[in-house]
Amino acid sequence: MKVCMVGTGYVGLVTGACLAESGNYVRCVDIDVEKCSALNRGEIPIYEPGLDVMVLRNASQGRLQFTTDISYGVEDADFVFIAVGTPPGPDGSADLSFVMEVARQIGRTLTNPTTVVTKSTVPVGTTEQIRSIIRSELDGRGIDLDFDIAFCPEFLREGSAIDDFMHPDRVVIGVETDRAREPLVRLFSPLTGGENSIYSMSIPSAELTKYAANAMLATRISFMNELSRFCDVSGANVDDVKRGMGSDSRIGPRFLNPGIGYGGSCFPKDVKALIDSSNRKGVRMSLLEAVEDINRSQKTLPVRWLKESAGEDLSRLTVAIWGLSFKPETDDMREAPALEIVKELKEAGATIRAFDPVAMDKAKEILGDSVSFGDDCYSILDQADCLIIVTEWLLFREPDFDRVKNLMARPLVLDGRNVYDPKEMEEMGFTYRSVGRPRG
Ligand SMILES: NC(=O)c1ccc[n+]([C@@H]2O[C@H](COP(=O)([O-])OP(=O)(O)OC[C@H]3O[C@@H](n4cnc5c(N)ncnc54)[C@H](O)[C@@H]3O)[C@@H](O)[C@H]2O)c1
Repeated sequence: MKVCMVGTGYVGLVTGACLAESGNYVRCVDIDVEKCSALNRGEIPIYEPGLDVMVLRNASQGRLQFTTDISYGVEDADFVFIAVGTPPGPDGSADLSFVMEVARQIGRTLTNPTTVVTKSTVPVGTTEQIRSIIRSELDGRGIDLDFDIAFCPEFLREGSAIDDFMHPDRVVIGVETDRAREPLVRLFSPLTGGENSIYSMSIPSAELTKYAANAMLATRISFMNELSRFCDVSGANVDDVKRGMGSDSRIGPRFLNPGIGYGGSCFPKDVKALIDSSNRKGVRMSLLEAVEDINRSQKTLPVRWLKESAGEDLSRLTVAIWGLSFKPETDDMREAPALEIVKELKEAGATIRAFDPVAMDKAKEILGDSVSFGDDCYSILDQADCLIIVTEWLLFREPDFDRVKNLMARPLVLDGRNVYDPKEMEEMGFTYRSVGRPRG
C-alpha cells in the first residue's frame, strides 16, 4: 500500500521506516529542509537503536522517500498519516497548531480519495476537527472528494521503538466506518499476526485511550515515588515492597520502579493535556494533578540530598552527572530530569560536569556553557565532590568503582535510578543514597 507520513520525527520516522519494512511504499514529508536533506543523504537525525540500518535498507530499495513537498507525498496515497508534534502550550493544553496546519495542507493538496489517519497524540474531538478543516479546504478548491478519517495512537517507546512498532502489544484503531477500518486492519495485520490484537473503536474512544494509557503509567511511577518517600522515613525498603505488591497478578511487576520521575516528550505533556481537556468539560482530574506535582518535585531529589549533606551553599562544590537523556537508549532531552537538576545546581552555585553516551549534542544545545561536558564517564570525576546518577545507561551499571573513588574528592554517590546495591556501595567506601532504600 502507499503511505504518506507527514512529520518525520521520532514517531513519523520510525513508523514510516517500519511500514516500508513490511512492504509498503512510504513517502515521509517534513517541513524541516535540513532534516529531509540529511535523511536523503542517509544520515539519521535521531538516536534510535536499529533505525539507521532499517532506513538505509528501505530507502535503497525504493520503498522509503523523504520530501518537503506535501503534494508529492499525498499523491496516490492510500493513507495520509499525521505524525507532527503536539507540545504543551503555556496552560498545559496540547498545542494543536502543527496538526491543524497539516490538515490545511492536506486539504489544499489532496487529489484522490484517501484515509487521513491522526497518529499524533491529540485530545478527544481533534480528529473530527481535522476532517472539518480538510473538508473546508477542499470546498474552497471546489473539489468534491470523498475521504475517510481515523485515529491510530502510537504506543512505541523511544529506545525500543522498532521492536515496539514491529511487535506491538496491541494496535488501536479509531474509525467510523468499515470502509476506513478494513484497509487499516490490512496495514497493521502483518505486525500483529492477524486481527486478534487489533482493537477497533470509535474515534473519541481511541483518542482517549492513548491519554489514558500514558496517564496510568505516569500514575504508577508517581505512586511508587511517593511510596519511596515514606520508605525513606519508615525503614521500609521500596525494592521489597515493590516485589511484594508487584507479584499480585492484579497489579503486576512492571512500571513500578521508583526514581527521579518521568520525563520525555509524552508523559509530562500528555498528563497535562488530559487534565486540561477534562477541565474544559467540567471534570477535574485531581488524581492526575497529584501525579504531576509528585513528579515535579521528584526530579530534583538528588539536589535536596546534596544540600542535606553539604548545606545550602553548593558554590564550592563540583558535581558530576552521569546521564542526561530522559531515559537510556535515546538522545531525547525533552522534559529530562537532568535539566531541572542542572538548573537547581546552577542556582546554588555549583560547578557542573556531565557525560551522556549519546545525548550530549542535544544537551549542549539546551544547556550551553552552564555545564562542562566530558569525553567519557571518568574524565568528569576528577576531584568531584559528588556523582549524581541521572540516567541508568547500561554503561554506568558496572563501572570501575575503585577508579571512581580514587578520582573523586569525596566518595559521595547520589543515585536517582537505584542502579547500585546500597550495601555493596557502603562496603566499597562510598557514601551512597538512593530512592526509598535504606542507606546500607
Ligand atoms: N516520541 C515518542 O516516543 C512518542 C510516542 C507516542 C506518541 N507520540 C506522539 O507523536 C507525535 C509526534 O511526536 P514526535 O516525538 O515524533 O515529535 P517530533 O517533534 O520528534 O517530530 C515532529 C516532526 O514534525 C515536523 N513538522 C512540524 N510541522 C510540520 C508540517 N506542517 N509538515 C510536515 N512536518 C512538520 C517537524 O519538523 C518534526 O520533524 C506527538 O503527538 C507525540 O505526542 C510520541
